[in-house]
Amino acid sequence: MKAIVYIKYGPPDVLHLDEVNKPILDEEKVLVKVHAASIHAADWHMLTGDPFAMRLMGVGLFKPKDTILGADMAGYVEEVGRKVKQFQPGDAVFGDVFGLGSGSLAEYVSVPESALALKPSNISFEEAAAVPAAALTALQGLRNQGHIQPGQKVLINGASGGVGTFAVQIAKAFGAEVTAVCSTRNLEMARSIGADHVIDYTKEDFTQNGCQYDLILAANGYHPLSAYKHALTPQGTYVFSGGSPAQIFQSLFLGPLMSQSHGRKMKSVMKRASHDDLLVLASLLEDGKIKPVIDTCYPLSRTAEAFRYFGKGHARGKVVITVAK
Ligand SMILES: NC(=O)c1ccc[n+]([C@@H]2O[C@H](COP(=O)([O-])OP(=O)(O)OC[C@H]3O[C@@H](n4cnc5c(N)ncnc54)[C@H](OP(=O)(O)O)[C@@H]3O)[C@@H](O)[C@H]2O)c1
Repeated sequence: MKAIVYIKYGPPDVLHLDEVNKPILDEEKVLVKVHAASIHAADWHMLTGDPFAMRLMGVGLFKPKDTILGADMAGYVEEVGRKVKQFQPGDAVFGDVFGLGSGSLAEYVSVPESALALKPSNISFEEAAAVPAAALTALQGLRNQGHIQPGQKVLINGASGGVGTFAVQIAKAFGAEVTAVCSTRNLEMARSIGADHVIDYTKEDFTQNGCQYDLILAANGYHPLSAYKHALTPQGTYVFSGGSPAQIFQSLFLGPLMSQSHGRKMKSVMKRASHDDLLVLASLLEDGKIKPVIDTCYPLSRTAEAFRYFGKGHARGKVVITVAK
């Protein structure tokens, strides 16, 4: 099969399209013919091997252990192992196969059924592939860490990226009043996906304008923790999703120290694989409550170019790779 392969950490130039063996199906796995995949931040970290600390977690100290990149994907079930119960050949599925040893930037993946859910019929494979990691992060950040409630004032900082575009729509689906922070060129898009209010970060610093929010989700850190705390209501919660190594360190270690037992909370979200949450997202997609925002679709042969674009940090929504027509 064709796959995007890399044998050393580095910039997108180390990626190349190669012919490799089709993954083996065992009795507990599902073989999926991949139609589309999408790029997310973890793929970038796996590509570059940066931050270095990540390499100590079993992904390969000096070179990548798994040589095919990719996690988010959508496609058709081709074959199922003897013990698989939920899927059969011909089912259209989507899922996050991160860390399962079968990268999604390839014509086939072989993964446990828990990594998959049926693809809603009202969205394309490209749209379905855009969903898993970014939407799971947004859902788990807002619901599990932020304990979002209807009527709350919720601010999404970085509202125009992969995590942010889902966070705006999921917060609306929970009945919140949503403020989206993005740059001038993305204000209209943020309104179109349901934001009640928009703030242009190139013209206004929301941490300094005196407004306070019950819940803030920051796709990337962008501001110091103290500034976010200042923008929270007395019982408000801040949830950090990603950012520089320094921001991650501050959020994980200073966040708990800055949290007040009966007041403002400074938290982080770490996306975890969850079949139940994939089903929640499938239901929101089916009901039209969330719709993936796709910046660009690249063919598999132009994956390195897609990574170069993603790496600039200004994608509007998701960057998708069409693997098969
Ligand atoms: N915690 C987890 O488990 C988890 C899981 C997945 C991802 N993440 C993290 O989540 C973060 C966000 O990822 P992402 O895929 O959404 O995309 P991203 O590439 O980080 O974000 C792209 C968007 O950010 C906007 N942006 C850039 N600078 C900004 C600023 N100063 N203020 C507000 N918005 C700004 C850009 O808009 P403009 O072009 O208009 O500037 C662009 O639309 C990453 O750091 C990633 O590592 C964490």
